Amino acid sequence: MAKEKIILTGDRPTGRLHIGHYVGSLRRRVELQNSGLYSKTFVFIADAQALTDNMDNPEKVRQNVIEVALDYLAAGLDPTKSTIFIQSQIPELCELSFYYMDLVTVSRLQRNPTVKTEIQMRNFEASIPVGFFTYPISQAADITAFKATTVPVGEDQEPMIEQAREIVRRFNYIYGETLVEPEILLPDNSACLRLPGTDGKAKMSKSLGNCIYLSDSADEVAKKIRSMYTDPDHLRVQDPGKLEGNTVFTYLDAFCRPEHFGRYLPEYPDLNELKAHYQRGGLGDVKVKKFLTAIMEEELSPIRNRRKEFEKDIPAIYDMLKKGCEAARETAAATLDEVRKAMKINYFDDAELIAEQAKRFKGEE
Ligand code: TRP
Repeated sequence: MAKEKIILTGDRPTGRLHIGHYVGSLRRRVELQNSGLYSKTFVFIADAQALTDNMDNPEKVRQNVIEVALDYLAAGLDPTKSTIFIQSQIPELCELSFYYMDLVTVSRLQRNPTVKTEIQMRNFEASIPVGFFTYPISQAADITAFKATTVPVGEDQEPMIEQAREIVRRFNYIYGETLVEPEILLPDNSACLRLPGTDGKAKMSKSLGNCIYLSDSADEVAKKIRSMYTDPDHLRVQDPGKLEGNTVFTYLDAFCRPEHFGRYLPEYPDLNELKAHYQRGGLGDVKVKKFLTAIMEEELSPIRNRRKEFEKDIPAIYDMLKKGCEAARETAAATLDEVRKAMKINYFDDAELIAEQAKRFKGEE
């Protein structure tokens, strides 16, 4: 029998979700959820992980839990098809992390490239919180507690998935085949792999102020696109323009579909022709930006409208999350039963063990 295929992924609730999250993973998750190829989909809000570098700002994390939940629903995650839950409400994940800590060395964690960069970004060099340093272990618990086979995430998460795979292999080697090795699922379009900020900087990030949020109004999106970074040497319409590092074209690579030309720019047959004209000269930034704005509006307006609807009943969102937590906890608890058994720490549910021990001590009399 083919192994059951299970999706799991999550986001730290440190801000509203932006279009980098959307093309990097969220859009894909919705497709996977609806594809019928997976027996289960788990999507969770990683509040405990967010606290590892926001320990002094619990209010920020709390506010953004509901923002992320709204973004999920707005983007099309459907609680009847996906289990949507909050990490901190699943205590089994802490238990699992505690056992995994035995299977990972300090030097292995120190080599994790994502953790390395994050430590630098946060000026943690001199005083790294232990919880932050070990979050790859807790992330391995997130993934394996649900026996996830497939983890759709951005490229920066690759070292986490690798670390999780190593933990699984080591666990299964020592304690017997119990856990499932997950596989990363990266976006297949390279523009989606790392969508730059509107200023052309490598990454979209709240602190750089270069994000387009899923919840931005149409006006905000249009304004952000108008001031978007293009080719600084493309001064006059007739000048030849460069595509490399040109954010508008990177966004077109991520969002443009063939049918968009018929609808918004019928004088061009496809994106290649548009690019060629830009490179030759004679095509102005304003025209390309207007095209991008139309495309973005087509993609974002249904999301924005759904969000507005969901915002009308916030208690219902918390209720949905609570139900998701209950369902997730059931799955995690079942895995923990297997883990405790494999690790021989299931003292009270094992009649055989008690009988065996009784016999041993009798024999010693
Ligand atoms: N580290 C991920 C991020 O920063 C969030 C996350 C936590 C996650 N646990 C996970 C993603 C497990 C996938 C699987 O976005």
